[in-house]
Amino acid sequence: MQNPAEDRPRTFPVRIWRGDANGAFQQFDVPRHASQTVLDVVTHVQRHLDPSLAYRYACRVGMCGSCAMTVNGKARWTCRTHVDTVAVDGTLEIAPLNHLPILRDLVVDMAPFFDKWAAARGQFSATATRRDDFAKVSPSSPARRAIDATIECIGCGVCYASCDVVEWKPDYLGPAALNRAWTLVNDVRDGDGVARLRAIAADGGCQSCHTHQSCTRSCPKHLSPTASIAGLKRLVARAAMKGTL
Ligand code: SF4
Ligand code: SF4
Ligand code: FES
Repeated sequence: MQNPAEDRPRTFPVRIWRGDANGAFQQFDVPRHASQTVLDVVTHVQRHLDPSLAYRYACRVGMCGSCAMTVNGKARWTCRTHVDTVAVDGTLEIAPLNHLPILRDLVVDMAPFFDKWAAARGQFSATATRRDDFAKVSPSSPARRAIDATIECIGCGVCYASCDVVEWKPDYLGPAALNRAWTLVNDVRDGDGVARLRAIAADGGCQSCHTHQSCTRSCPKHLSPTASIAGLKRLVARAAMKGTL
């Protein structure tokens, strides 16, 4: 005869941040499953244990960048992070991303993050009109190859939450915005080159990066904002020497 207790999935303790910046962790016992992601855990809590839990996700497949949280002390995308790889002593502690205002529970306000994209002139500035033919950009050109990886950024904010300079220098544009700027300065169709270089050469721009690579180590897409920022530093130095800044 079967023992009903053996049929029940075993549970594990999960501590989840509740409330605003003055909130506290609340513990839940969550059923443990094979191949379970951290996002599965949070979703279980919201659907079965406390429907008032606030969190954010959209695609569940690593494309939208909306599910980033702090998991056992490190910023991660939660939809592609398996519990097996991050649990410490069989437990999880899940908090909102660092360096951004907490709205509620696991949801942060991403506005300051994207305001810095705008400050780095991260918007494409077209030089052609709709009457022009499509631009032809050779995939093997040096400028295009320089951004083969960087265009894959999903804007998740994991690098931003992992960067110490963002913490102590609030006006620092941060790795994601600078990675975006590097993508655009190498886009031959864009016409905002000098204005963008001026923006990233200013205080809080690329020179504030200390090259300690936390962003690169943490990026779930395996991008290197550190390399993008190094490229920007070279461009800024060259422009300064030529007197074109
Ligand atoms: S390399 Fe630069 S941007 Fe990246 S974490 Fe370090 S200081 Fe921040
Ligand atoms: S560079 Fe990587 S970690 Fe940073 S926002 Fe883009 S995908 Fe996320
Ligand atoms: S839910 Fe879209 S990247 Fe995780």
